[in-house]
Parts: sequence; C-alpha cells; structure tokens
Amino acid sequence: MHVAAFCVFYLLQPSAFSDPKGDSYHLPLPSGVLEPIIPEDNPLTMEKIALGKELFFDKRLSADDTVSCATCHDPEKGFADGKAIAVGIKERKGTRNSPTVLNAAFFDTQFWDGRAMTLEEQAKQPIINPKEMGMPSHDALVEKISGIPEYKTAFQAVFGTEKITIDLIVMAIASFERTLITFNTPFDRFIAGKGDAISASAQRGWKLFQGKARCVTCHEFNVSYPFFTNNKFHNVGVAMKGKDFESLARKAAGSGADPSALAQEEASSELGHYLVTKEPKDIGAFKTSGLRNIALTAPYMHDGSELTLESVVEFYDKGGIPNPNLDGGIRPLNLTEDEKKDLVEFMKSLTSDDLPESGITVK
Ligand code: HEC
Ligand code: HEC
Repeated sequence: MHVAAFCVFYLLQPSAFSDPKGDSYHLPLPSGVLEPIIPEDNPLTMEKIALGKELFFDKRLSADDTVSCATCHDPEKGFADGKAIAVGIKERKGTRNSPTVLNAAFFDTQFWDGRAMTLEEQAKQPIINPKEMGMPSHDALVEKISGIPEYKTAFQAVFGTEKITIDLIVMAIASFERTLITFNTPFDRFIAGKGDAISASAQRGWKLFQGKARCVTCHEFNVSYPFFTNNKFHNVGVAMKGKDFESLARKAAGSGADPSALAQEEASSELGHYLVTKEPKDIGAFKTSGLRNIALTAPYMHDGSELTLESVVEFYDKGGIPNPNLDGGIRPLNLTEDEKKDLVEFMKSLTSDDLPESGITVK
C-alpha cells in the first residue's frame, strides 16, 4: 500500500490502531515449542493482558450480568464447564460442548467447526449469542463497558484512547487467552528423557496411540507443536444420530445464513465444518481436539456425548459411528481390555501440574 494512503487509513480509523503501551510480555514457552501467531496489530503487553483478564471474568459482559466467559471456561474445570452442552443466560441451553481455552492460541482455527480464524474474531461471537451472553449487539456492549469508569481508565492506559470499541475489547480478551498455556505434564518429562515420568501402562498407551490405535494420525504430536491435533476436520461419527443430513445440508446451503447463526441451531449445528465450507465432504466433520489436560474436561466430543475417557476409547474401538461421510481413518481397532486401559492411562499423563489457577501466568 502507498505510504500516504496507509496513513490516511489509520487517521480515518484511529480505534483500529493499537499503539503498544506498557511492558511487552513474552510467552513462557518451553524451548523448541513454536510460538503461536500473535497478530501484528495486537502485541502482548502486561497491561493489556490484565485488562483482558478483567473482561474475561466480568459477568457484566452479558445481557443480565449473570454470565462471563469464565462461566463456561472455568479455571476450576480446566477452563471448560463440566457440562455436556453449554448453558448461558437465563439457563438457555446451547448446541455444543464448551471446549477448554487452554492452549487455544495454538490452534489454526477456533470453534468445533473452525468458523473463526483468530481468538479476536472468536471472542466477538459469544457476547451476542442469545444462548450464551445474550447482548443485543456489539454496540450495546461497548456502551455498557464505556459507562464503567474503571474500564474507561484502563482502556486509556492500554490503548491510549477512551473511545472503547468492540475491536479493542476483543483484542484485550484475546491477549489474556494467549497467556493460558500449559505444559509441564508427566508426559512432557517422559518425552524429554525421564523414562520413569509416566507409568509402564501409560508408556504402552503412548505406543498404542501411535500404532495399533492409530490416534496419532489425527491427534498429531511433535516436539515443536505438542498439542495432539492436526488442526483438521474429520467425521468420526459423533454427529450421526439418525439425522437426515442431506436435507439439513441442502437447507443450510440454501438459507444464506452465516455459519455462526447455523451453529446456534440444534439441528444445523451438527453439520460441523460443512457450515464453513459448504462442501459435502465436511458434513458432520469437527475439529480434531487437542488432548492436553483432557482428563480435566469431561464430558467429551462436540456434543458432550461421551462421559469418560474410557467411553471415548470404546467409541473408537468400535470404529466410530458408521455413516456415509465417516473418515477413512476410523475403523474397528480390536483393542484388548488392557490396551484400552493403557490408552486411558496415557491420556491421563497429559495433565499439567502447574495449571494457571485464576487463569493467569502474569501477576
Ligand atoms: C454459555 C457458555 C459460553 C460462554 C459464556 C463463552 N463460551 Fe467460549 N465456547 C463455548 C462453546 C459451547 C464453544 C464451542 C462453540 C462452537 O463450536 O460452536 C466455545 C468455544 C470457545 C473457543 C474456541 C476454542 C476451540 O478450541 O475451538 C474460545 C477460544 C472461547 N470459546 C472463548 C470464549 C470467550 C473469550 C468468551 C467470552 C467473551 C466465551 N468463550 C464465552 C461456551 C461459552
Ligand atoms: C480420523 C481422525 C481421528 C482419529 C484417528 C482419532 N481421533 Fe480423536 N478426535 C477426532 C475428532 C475430529 C474429534 C472431535 C469429534 C467430534 O466431537 O465430533 C476427536 C475427539 C477426541 C476426544 C475428545 C476431545 C474433547 O475435548 O472432547 C478424545 C479424548 C479423542 N478424540 C481421543 C482419541 C483417541 C484415544 C484416539 C485413538 C484411539 C483417537 N482420538 C483417534 C479425530 C480423530
């Protein structure tokens, strides 16, 4: 872009510009782990992270002051909520299970269907989702937050402007979320060379995970990206509960509704990544979950339909749920009872022993 045009752009949109104020913050990553992408216009600073933390835990971000981000992403529950399906304001039941936000900064896309590309874009949606925080609009939230004197001062200090906007609000929240990273699991110590850091059963489970059970084909692991996901979308059959997917898909494709609206409806929500791509191969496909701290975030799957890790392993052992779009990588595994136990033991070795308690690694 031409330099002058570039300047005019920012003069016209002063609120889109974030002048880094305050001390910059570097994520405490173990050596060898690749840094997650941090948007150039939203560098991490201590002050911005602290503001984002305030917002993340503040119920005033919801229409009736009863629900914060942390209601469904609760530090006490591995930053999930322990429920099969999320519950928002006025006890309204949503359509999907709340995933953890721990390590979410490292995922290529956000949401089970991948409909948001960044944490900033993601955070805009729950605020106006009628089944989550239920604000009538982003403008309504901006007005509400602007009426709180402490926030006016904080936004001034962090962004150099008192003019609060939805973009600044989500930039702060996303910055806080980027600090929610957890390593230091027994498994990490095992991989680093401490042979007895995990039990013999968990070690057998890790072998099975990479071999006979084929889990690693989707829950990919490597030392620079140790999150157990390939960031792709697969139909493993969870969504296939006697639904007429063809007519649902036709209806969704023809409706012109955007993916976030369709994801809020119980029936169309089950179409998964199809809502984003409108490609038939993505019907019922959901994002491969990361598996760190998985023992803390039952129940499992995008609809919370599997109550325990044992039942997840049974699900895969049977070959998922047959359907026309079942991923080619899913087939019966013929695991023995001992092998199933070993897989579960392995997954339990992925729990960090220094989880951020109040959700912050910054004091
Ligand atoms: C009522 C419960 C609820 C509230 C409140 C809520 N979330 Fe969520 N969150 C969910 C559910 C359910 C999903 C998955 C939705 C989907 O895939 O359609 C989700 C997904 C996410 C994800 C994507 C994680 C991933 O691995 O894909 C992030 C990040 C996130 N929420 C952050 C937030 C933030 C930030 C707020 C506050 C602005 C918030 N959530 C408020 C329930 C909630
Ligand atoms: C073909 C790719 C694929 C393979 C192979 C695979 N998974 Fe998954 N896994 C996924 C996807 C996709 C999801 C989310 C599915 C959904 O909710 O619809 C998932 C979800 C899970 C979950 C639940 C995560 C959560 O947060 O709720 C666990 C646990 C899990 N897988 C473990 C395993 C294990 C153990 C194996 C091997 C026995 C395995 N997976 C094999 C793709 C795969």
